[in-house]
Amino acid sequence: IADIKGGPDEGLERLGQTLVVKGWVRTVRVQSSVTFIDVNDGSCLSNMQCVMGSDADGYDQVESGSVTTGASIWVQGIVVKSQGSKQKVELKVNKIVVVGKSDPSFPIQKKRVSKEFLRTKAHLRPRTNTFGAVARVRNALAYATHKFFQENGFVWISSPIITASDCEGAGEQFCVTTLMQSSGEVDSLVDCIPKTKDGLIDWSQDFFGKPAFLTVSGQLNAETYATALSDVYTFGPTFRAENSNTSRHLAEFWMIEPELAFADLNDDMACATAYLQYVVKYVLENCKEDMDFFNTWIEKGIIDRLSDVAQKEFVQLTYTNAIELLLKSKKKFEFPVKWGCDLQSEHERYITEEAFNGCPVIIRDYPKEIKAFYMRQNDDGKTVAAMDVLVPRVGELIGGSQREERLEYLEDRLDQLKLNKDSYWWYLDLRRYGSVPHAGFGLGFERLVQFATGVENIRDAIPFPRTPGSAEF
Ligand code: 4AD
Ligand code: MG
Repeated sequence: IADIKGGPDEGLERLGQTLVVKGWVRTVRVQSSVTFIDVNDGSCLSNMQCVMGSDADGYDQVESGSVTTGASIWVQGIVVKSQGSKQKVELKVNKIVVVGKSDPSFPIQKKRVSKEFLRTKAHLRPRTNTFGAVARVRNALAYATHKFFQENGFVWISSPIITASDCEGAGEQFCVTTLMQSSGEVDSLVDCIPKTKDGLIDWSQDFFGKPAFLTVSGQLNAETYATALSDVYTFGPTFRAENSNTSRHLAEFWMIEPELAFADLNDDMACATAYLQYVVKYVLENCKEDMDFFNTWIEKGIIDRLSDVAQKEFVQLTYTNAIELLLKSKKKFEFPVKWGCDLQSEHERYITEEAFNGCPVIIRDYPKEIKAFYMRQNDDGKTVAAMDVLVPRVGELIGGSQREERLEYLEDRLDQLKLNKDSYWWYLDLRRYGSVPHAGFGLGFERLVQFATGVENIRDAIPFPRTPGSAEF
């Protein structure tokens, strides 16, 4: 359908051609002399309007009520000019085959249904306009991500999902456990989790006898390749065991993590800006129909907002300036503001949405106490070369930093934070053998999808959201 409707003259150039369309019925309107069937195949937002007279081969299936919303069909017809105003062409059907009937209980009928309801139908929600459009834009953002980094000489690195290290040092990891082979029948896999004599989970059996976790970030692995291949990036799933039920947090999310060798924080910020502008421009240019849909139904004005992002310079501000700005504002915040505090979502949104009128803001040089061990200490001894990119509606979209490349500083920091130096032996080696200034960032892919589509809840930005207590599908 995208091929036909996306043609140079919206399909008019195909008048008279015989085509086959395969898809799922969205609506059926039976009138006295003709039947209208709207079919969608997911290739684009638009349906193909199929017009059918009683002489068409297979019309008996319409009569018997088999062509209903949700059914899958195969139709063959001739492209004709449409009488309707919604489309330039339609298909005059000469043959229809119902491939799979749809039970009347099909839960997604024409009327608008809430996103909350659709979350309980994760297997069927891709059949709606919104979720189809989100899936296509998500795909375009992923493609544009690879395109941007590949065009700029970055090498894609697969970072591991199972790891023993905790990149962020925040203890927000899921444990991996090896299920025991069971001789008899088991009611559930839970019975196969290794247990001690007392019936407790035996963590010593985690990963074939060694502890292992799901990764929170591929950064440390990316650093090993950046200090060999120069500029690299990762793009893969990451996991956080934070029990936060917010519209911006998932337990499983995808992260894009570039790592630049021979680079400092300014290079890092420049890369983040160029990347973000590139992908935003890409979807504006390549996903026009879906973006128009979001602009009308999901977030009014999103196209103008994103066009600004793609063109205008981002605001830059130090953490210290950001705190001053928040203290000066008349706004009542739930979390009190003082130098040294971590910025909360309400602060981040105030800065980008109100103080800077919707422009992305990069905040840099955060207090070292609220940031991870690997960030490079600034000369003031109090702050580190960290940066966060904040955007309206989402807040923190990107978190990055220049890495501490000086062995003695890094060892001191690990000691101060009482982290076990032995478990970072390989990471320290990178500073022993040919260390270089390097920097990188992580972008939460679902937050980017939220930002680019306007969907308010992160659960609607990923096909199968993993949040506390939900992992059904
Ligand atoms: O700020 P974070 O924790 O930074 C890191 O993990 C660094 N190692 C990245 C790096 O420098 N290579 O996470 C990076 C981004 C955040 O800015 C946010 O967009 C996203 O990952 N993120 C989440 N997205 C969804 N759900 C969560 N629970 C997230 N936690 C972080
Ligand atoms: Mg962060």
